[in-house]
Amino acid sequence: MIKQEDIQKILDATDIADVIGQFVKLRKRGANYIGLCPFHNEKTPSFNVNSARGIFKCFGCGEGGDAVRFLMKHEHFTYPEALRFLAARYGIPIEEEQASPEALAMQSERDAVFHVNEFAQKYFHQILLTDSEGIQIGMSYFRERDLTEETVKQWGLGYCKEKWTDFTDYALSQGYSIDVLVKSGLTIEKEETGKHYDRFRGRVIFPIYSVSGRPIGFTGRILTSDKSKAKYVNSPESIIYSKGKVLFGLHLAKTHIAKQDLCYLVEGNMDAVMMSQQGVKNVVATSGTALTEDQIRLLKRYSSNVTILYDGDAAGIHAAFRAIDMFLANGLKVRIVLFPDGDDPDSFARKHTQADFQRYITEEAHDFIIFKTNLLLADAKDDPVKRASLIKEILLSISKIPDLIERTTYIQQCSSILAMKEEVLAKELAKILRQKQFKDFKETEQEVVNTQEQISDPHVARQEIENPYPDNNQERSIIELLLNYSNIITRQDVITEEDKLETQTFMTASYVISDIKNEGIAFDNPIYQSIIDIYHDYITKNNALPDLNLFIASENETLRKEITALLFENEKYAVSPLWHERYNINIPDRLDPDVVDRHIKQTLLYLKWHKLEQRKTSIQAQLQTPQPEEDMRRLLSEFGFLVDCLRIIRKELNNIAK
Ligand code: UTP
Ligand code: MN
Repeated sequence: MIKQEDIQKILDATDIADVIGQFVKLRKRGANYIGLCPFHNEKTPSFNVNSARGIFKCFGCGEGGDAVRFLMKHEHFTYPEALRFLAARYGIPIEEEQASPEALAMQSERDAVFHVNEFAQKYFHQILLTDSEGIQIGMSYFRERDLTEETVKQWGLGYCKEKWTDFTDYALSQGYSIDVLVKSGLTIEKEETGKHYDRFRGRVIFPIYSVSGRPIGFTGRILTSDKSKAKYVNSPESIIYSKGKVLFGLHLAKTHIAKQDLCYLVEGNMDAVMMSQQGVKNVVATSGTALTEDQIRLLKRYSSNVTILYDGDAAGIHAAFRAIDMFLANGLKVRIVLFPDGDDPDSFARKHTQADFQRYITEEAHDFIIFKTNLLLADAKDDPVKRASLIKEILLSISKIPDLIERTTYIQQCSSILAMKEEVLAKELAKILRQKQFKDFKETEQEVVNTQEQISDPHVARQEIENPYPDNNQERSIIELLLNYSNIITRQDVITEEDKLETQTFMTASYVISDIKNEGIAFDNPIYQSIIDIYHDYITKNNALPDLNLFIASENETLRKEITALLFENEKYAVSPLWHERYNINIPDRLDPDVVDRHIKQTLLYLKWHKLEQRKTSIQAQLQTPQPEEDMRRLLSEFGFLVDCLRIIRKELNNIAK
C-alpha cells in the first residue's frame, strides 16, 4: 500500500512528456508534443501529449489518460507498479503503509537478488562482446547459429567463462555477498566442502527477463555435444524467479502481441530468439517446461489468440495436445503449426527466407479441430474403433470451452469434417459435460465438508478456495447480453404473485435488469454497475430501452471506452463467413431463440453463483478470526444458507446443460 500523500507527491513530480518520451519519439508542436501512437499502427502522428495538463490522447485510436494510465497500458504495469516506476524515476521516497519488519527484510532480500542478477547480466554480456575467451568461444557459437550482433545485443546474451569461479570472484570483489550470490543461484555452494563455483561456467547465457525487462534468472547452454552434461542449465527458483510464472521473451514481445492480437508460443529459447530475428516479434517460449496456468494468465493480458509452434515429433505433439486443452479451458483461441519431423522453429527459420518462414507459419496454422482430426485420422483410417476414440478425443477438447455458443460452432465444424450427424456429436458432448459436472459437483461437496472441518478447528490455516469463474467474467457477460440482445424477445420462467411458475416473454434487457435489481446484486466493476444503473433508470423513467448511442457518446470516458471496446470485441469474435464456404458449416444463428433463452438464463445463474461464492469466501475468512459468540452463530447460519443456494444453482446449471 502506497500512502495517499506519496501518491500525490509522485503525480506532482511527474512530467508526462518525459515519461512518454522514453517509449515514444515525441516532437514539439505548439503547446503539445506529438508522435506516432504506440497503441495502434499509424504512419502519420495523431498521438498528442499535453505537459501542462499531464494528459495524452490519441485521435487515431481514442486511447487517452494520464502518465500512470500510459504506463499501465504501455508497460502493462498494475497501478502500484506504475506509481513505483514513477517514484523511482523522480526520486520520490515511498513510505509503504504498515510494512512489518519481516516484509522489510523480504523486500531488501528481493532488491539484493534483483541487483546481483542485473549485475551478472551486464557482466556476462560484456564478457561475450569484449573478452578474448568470450569472443572466441561464446560469440563464435552464436555466429555459428546465425545470430546477428544486433540480436545478441537486443536479447542481452552473454558468456560465462570456463574458469570455475570467474564470475563469483568478480562479484565478490565488487562487494556482492556470497549469501546473495548463492540465493540468486548464480553461485553454487558445495555442501560437503563449502566451496563455491559458477553455475553457468563455460556456457553461453540467455538472460530471462521480467515483463518489465529486468533480468530475474538465466539459462546457460553448453557449447559441446557432450551428452553426459545437461544441454541447458537454468537458474533455480529464487525469491524473484519462478519458472512456471515467466515466459521467455515476453518483455520484448508484449507490445507486438497486443498490436497483432496474436502470440506465437514455442518451446525453446533459441526458437524465440531466431524467430524474432526473422521478423516474427510476437513470440514467447515456455523454455522447456510444461505450460502452466500462470503462463496462460500472463499471456491473456496481451491477446486471446495463440498459435503453438511445436516440433512434429511425438513429444511435441503430446505437448501440443495438452496445451490446446489448457488454452481452450481458459477461453483462448488456439491454432497449431507443426514443423516437419526433425525441425524446430529455429532450424526451420534458418533454412528459409523471412518471407517463406512467415508464410509457412501463417498458412500452416490450423484450427485445433483440424489439427487433431488430421493427425488422428491418419492413424485411424477406416478402423471404426479408432474412429470412435478419435471423435471422443476431439469432443473432449471441445468440452473444455467455457462458452456455449462457441462449443456449438465447433460441433458444427466437427460434424462437417468428420461427416457425422451434428445431433450425435452434440449428444456425445452433453454426456461428457454431464460427467464433468458430476465430478465438479462431487468436488464441491468435498469442499463443503473440508470447510466445516476447518471451521471447527480454528488452528487449521484457511485454504485458498479457487473461484471457478475468476475475474469479472460473469459481470462482463451480463453487459454483453445487454449490448447484444438488448431488444430481443426472450422467454423465461418467472414466479408469479400467486407463487406459480410461468413462462413469460420479455425484452432481454428488461428481464436481465429486473432480475439483477430484484436480487439486489451489486457489481464489483464500477463501470458495469453504472451501465446497469443507466439501463435501469432509463427503463423505469421512459418505459423503453435506451439507445446504444447514449453510451457511445457518453461524457464519461471510461464508460465510453468500455462500451466501444465491448462492441468491438463482439465484432471480432463473430464467426467469419468464410467458414461457411471453406467447411460448409452452418453458423449457429446467434439469435436462435432457444439458444438465446438458455444463454441468458445461464449467464444470470453464473453471475449469482459467482456473487454467492464471493460472499461465502468472505464469511469463511471472517470465521477464521475470533468473533463474539452471537456473530459466529449468525455467520455460520448464513454460511449454511449460501451452501444450499449454491447447490440449487448448480443443479439448475446442470439442467440447462442437459
Ligand atoms: P530443446 O532440447 O528442444 O532445445 O529444449 P532447443 O531449444 O532446440 O535448443 P538448441 O536448438 O539445441 O540450442 C527446449 C527448451 O527446453 C529447455 C531449454 O529452455 C530449451 O530451450 N531445456 C532443454 C532445459 O531447460 N534443459 C535441458 O537440458 C534441455
Ligand atoms: Mn533447436
